[in-house]
Amino acid sequence: MQFKYAVCFIAIIAALLIFMNIYPVASFRDAAFEAKHASTLNQAAVVASSLSSLPELREEDVGKIMSMLNNIMVTRLVVTNERAQIIYDTSQYENNVGRYAVFAEVMTALEGKDVFRSKYTGEGLVSRAAMPVTSEGVIVGAVYIYDFDIDQAGMLETMRGNLLKVSFVILFLSLLLVFVFSWLLTKRIRSLFKAMQNLGGGRYDYRVEVRGGDEISGLASEFNSLAERLEKTESMRQRFVSDASHELKTPLASIRLLADSVVQNENVDAGTMREFMADIGSEAERLQRTTEKLLALSRLDDDIQIVPEPVDVRQVTLDALSVLRPLAEERSVSIRTALDDGCVVLATVDDMFHIVFNLMENAIKYNVPNGSVGVFLHIGGDSVLFTVEDTGIGIPESETYNIFSRFYRIDKARSREAGGSGLGLSIVHDAVKAHGGSIAVGQNKPQGSRFIVSFPLYSIERT
Ligand SMILES: Nc1ncnc2c1ncn2[C@@H]1O[C@H](COP(=O)(O)OP(=O)(O)OP(=O)(O)O)[C@@H](O)[C@H]1O
Ligand SMILES: [Mg+2]
Repeated sequence: MQFKYAVCFIAIIAALLIFMNIYPVASFRDAAFEAKHASTLNQAAVVASSLSSLPELREEDVGKIMSMLNNIMVTRLVVTNERAQIIYDTSQYENNVGRYAVFAEVMTALEGKDVFRSKYTGEGLVSRAAMPVTSEGVIVGAVYIYDFDIDQAGMLETMRGNLLKVSFVILFLSLLLVFVFSWLLTKRIRSLFKAMQNLGGGRYDYRVEVRGGDEISGLASEFNSLAERLEKTESMRQRFVSDASHELKTPLASIRLLADSVVQNENVDAGTMREFMADIGSEAERLQRTTEKLLALSRLDDDIQIVPEPVDVRQVTLDALSVLRPLAEERSVSIRTALDDGCVVLATVDDMFHIVFNLMENAIKYNVPNGSVGVFLHIGGDSVLFTVEDTGIGIPESETYNIFSRFYRIDKARSREAGGSGLGLSIVHDAVKAHGGSIAVGQNKPQGSRFIVSFPLYSIERT
């Protein structure tokens, strides 16, 4: 990635530098050519018009006129007659008078056209211009100018050299910057990558450092919160597994102990034997209850789409009450009910049964002898409210959050004695949430506790 970034940046910078080296030099050269074009043709025109008074170009007449024109500043000036024969030449190297000027420009000028050509050779700016000399409408010869300009070329070369030097400096600096920036950018991506590898390898406590407020920092903080959630889930999972195995281990150990004592004592009387067997039976029953609750919880955890149906909560409450009546009688707890009709919610009968059964069972189990339990069901606005209150031992305010955790029991000894596994309320909680309801717990005056479950009321118009 760093390499790709660097290549991209360098390509852009190189393109800019190439443009910077070519464009100003080219436009300066064009401007210089433009100026040359005007000045050489101008000078040729001065000579041509001076010579146009002569009906025929002869060496001595042209020489005389030319000696009067002393402000012509070109490298070489040639005048030919109409047959392209040189009559006047300022060349310093040889005397060409009488020879034929075989320049393409002269030929074109003798055809009656002005010509200008220029090129840049690297050492100088070469310009060639030619123009016909006309006398009374007849072409009598041509003026040819050759100019070799070193000054302009020198300026052009200096400019080119300076630009090149500046370009190299810019290129070097930007290479350095590109390397540093792309390294810094990919460094943060690398650290995120490393963090992901760590997380993937099971190091849930690994976090990345969040700096700045750009997209990568956003990614990093998103990663951190993901890792945090995973860490929490993972620790919950571990605690759950250890709690569950502990819960299953205890009754199993009792069963083994009881079975061992039966096996090892040869002369156990029938009464004791029956007592031991009854104990084994009740431990096994406890195991069964715990595993059933664990199964109910894992079903609620699953994301399998359950299909909810309209459930009459009153009917479910009556069913659960008939199961719980013997327990209430055994504990001398009286139950008062006030159940309205028409309390229909969208849920499943099984989940609704778990909810009302566990709440009422707790209200009976954690009660005092001759205590009472109140079960109320009514509609409040758009909600169905199911309330269970008791006159029992109550729940301290500091515990109201914990009681919904798996395997949590406030008074372990009492709950175990009552056959509790600490899973009831977590099942209630998960079932309520699964069907869009809410649950609240509070104190019942003057003593005891009160649980209120609220569900959206199901009505045909609403669906
Ligand atoms: N109505 C209540 N009054 C007083 N304490 C309660 C009441 N309901 C629950 N608790 C406390 O909250 C704890 C958790 O309740 P929960 O129903 O989850 O478990 P449990 O009753 O111990 O076992 P299980 O319901 O699985 O048989 C109980 O152990 C008890 O200490
Ligand atoms: Mg319970």
